[in-house]
Amino acid sequence: MSPGPRPPLDQVPTAPPLVTGRPGPGRPLLAANDLYVSFPAGPGHRFTAVEDVTFSVSEGETLGIVGESGCGKSTVAKCLAGLLRPDSGTISLRGVPLAARRSRQQHRAVQLVFQDPYSSLNPRLSVRSVLEELLSLHGLARGEALDRRCRELMTLVGLSEGALDGYPSSFSGGQRQRIAIARALAVEPEVVVADEPISALDVSVQAAILALFADLRDRLGIGIVLISHNLAAVRHVCDRAAVMYLGRIIEVGDKEEIFGAPLHPYTKALLAAAPRLRPATDRPRPRLKGEPPSMTARPNGCPFYPRCPRAEPVCEAKPPQLLPAPGGSRRLAACHFREEQ
Ligand SMILES: Nc1ncnc2c1ncn2[C@@H]1O[C@H](COP(=O)(O)OP(=O)(O)OP(=O)(O)O)[C@@H](O)[C@H]1O
Ligand code: SF4
Ligand SMILES: [Mg+2]
Repeated sequence: MSPGPRPPLDQVPTAPPLVTGRPGPGRPLLAANDLYVSFPAGPGHRFTAVEDVTFSVSEGETLGIVGESGCGKSTVAKCLAGLLRPDSGTISLRGVPLAARRSRQQHRAVQLVFQDPYSSLNPRLSVRSVLEELLSLHGLARGEALDRRCRELMTLVGLSEGALDGYPSSFSGGQRQRIAIARALAVEPEVVVADEPISALDVSVQAAILALFADLRDRLGIGIVLISHNLAAVRHVCDRAAVMYLGRIIEVGDKEEIFGAPLHPYTKALLAAAPRLRPATDRPRPRLKGEPPSMTARPNGCPFYPRCPRAEPVCEAKPPQLLPAPGGSRRLAACHFREEQ
């Protein structure tokens, strides 16, 4: 669905249909520009958690963001959703920078789906109550249209209409995550940011939830930012991927390039160590050697230098910039030797 400019809320008597055709990727929808985020680190000190982060997601596109624990993925997600104000940099929707205090419409446009669907759902509210309250609050449906939209949302996320009268405790983890996704979709977002949406789920349902995100992208034409430390999961559904290390994007490009022929030594190592979605058929995977340096003790040169098998003296002295890879592709990599990989 190409959401387009929304009419004022008081002119929306009933919600428009949710399911329409996919416009295809292309138009930049949500963009992060030069994000910089720091946090306090003891009296008088701050450390940089996110630095120089720039990327965009288009209509009908899934962008995967991957990287080890602590590299800044959730911090970026919170900035995208307007829950955290970056020290500098902007988030733009359709080319328009979003204000530090977003309007209700702007909040609707970017919805966050969290890792743990249980703690993000109120156990005392039925699914119907949650959805009806949201739809009413945002003036998206009333009267008979409320029930119709609730049923539509259940269908959209692959649940039966009967699920509307259930409470969170009566559902499995996978079903609860579907409910959390329905809640995010209820306000008709233009972008859904999913922060580790499968990592709290049983392995047997992870692939089904990933398939649901791909289906929603295709049916609704929304942009999806899928954040995961699991490269195999992102590979499953994303169109493009950004790899983060120590608060920076170190490689970004089309899925085939990133997963088929990674350029950056860190991407290669992460890919080699990635678990598969079906562990029953999995072979032992090599582990990524060492731990990332502390955010408070970043190397001066390349952040991957202490762990990199390709490192040379220049890497310790000079930080590499995120620059286009050779061959005219859309891929960018931050490695002094990106042209030789
Ligand atoms: N509110 C905060 N105050 C202080 N430090 C924070 C805060 N939020 C995050 N951090 C720190 O910022 C860094 C990035 O954290 P973030 O949660 O974004 O990482 P992540 O990539 O999402 O990790 P994970 O894969 O474990 O979820 C970490 O060092 C973390 O400890
Ligand atoms: S710049 Fe050097 S240390 Fe950094 S990834 Fe490239 S080869 Fe490794
Ligand atoms: Mg996180």
